[in-house]
Amino acid sequence: MSELDPVKLMKQEVGRAAAARVQSNTVIGLGTGSTTAFAIQFIGERLKSGELSNIKGIPTSFQASVLAKQHGIPLTTLDEADEIALAIDGADEVDSQFNLIKGGGAAHTREKIVDGLAKEFIVVVDSSKLVDKLGSTFPLPVEVLPMAVTPVTKALEALGGKPELRMGIKKDGPVITDQGNMVLDVTFSGIDNPAELERTINNIPGVLENGLFVGVATEVLVGEVKDGQASVRNL
Ligand code: 5RP
Repeated sequence: MSELDPVKLMKQEVGRAAAARVQSNTVIGLGTGSTTAFAIQFIGERLKSGELSNIKGIPTSFQASVLAKQHGIPLTTLDEADEIALAIDGADEVDSQFNLIKGGGAAHTREKIVDGLAKEFIVVVDSSKLVDKLGSTFPLPVEVLPMAVTPVTKALEALGGKPELRMGIKKDGPVITDQGNMVLDVTFSGIDNPAELERTINNIPGVLENGLFVGVATEVLVGEVKDGQASVRNL
């Protein structure tokens, strides 16, 4: 029996499965969050054991960059890399069409750039992230320029959302993203048309990016646990 709680166990095993998909001589997109952290750890272990070689990572956040360095994964940039073979990233919600809500770690702007450029984008989630309709369990993160927080809040309310400024934990005041912006977490009671809402929100002046990822993921790996035994399935 593992010492990890069931959710951590699912995240670990799905991270391991995604790390196993990385091939030598490729550039990979390194996502953000606790599930991807396991994938980064296992990619590092494969590199150290010699099973993998000549890998370069493009981090989607400060967190991903710190973890990659910690686990010995060399980094590169979008200016230097010709192509990203594979991106591995988590999600906060996944629907049956592989559409996602991301941004629980406030990293969705860089994640959308890197994940969207990758030839393959594998999403790694535990089974609690699967939903029938996006927006049913998780608010939609919207990254906003600080000077535009008030007008963007009003515009999101006019769209039927309930925006809340994301506040720091163990830091007074709002969360500041890696780009120096703020995040509004917008509750919609279910999103009927994710593609349309993604475009509409990104058209509000002052919005940098929202956490709807429509048609970006190519594969979803889901970690599950039963009687203390973890398994991974392809959605
Ligand atoms: C960060 C993200 C994360 O991938 C998402 O929040 C899932 O995180 P976790 O794997 O910790 O559940 O979008 O912006």
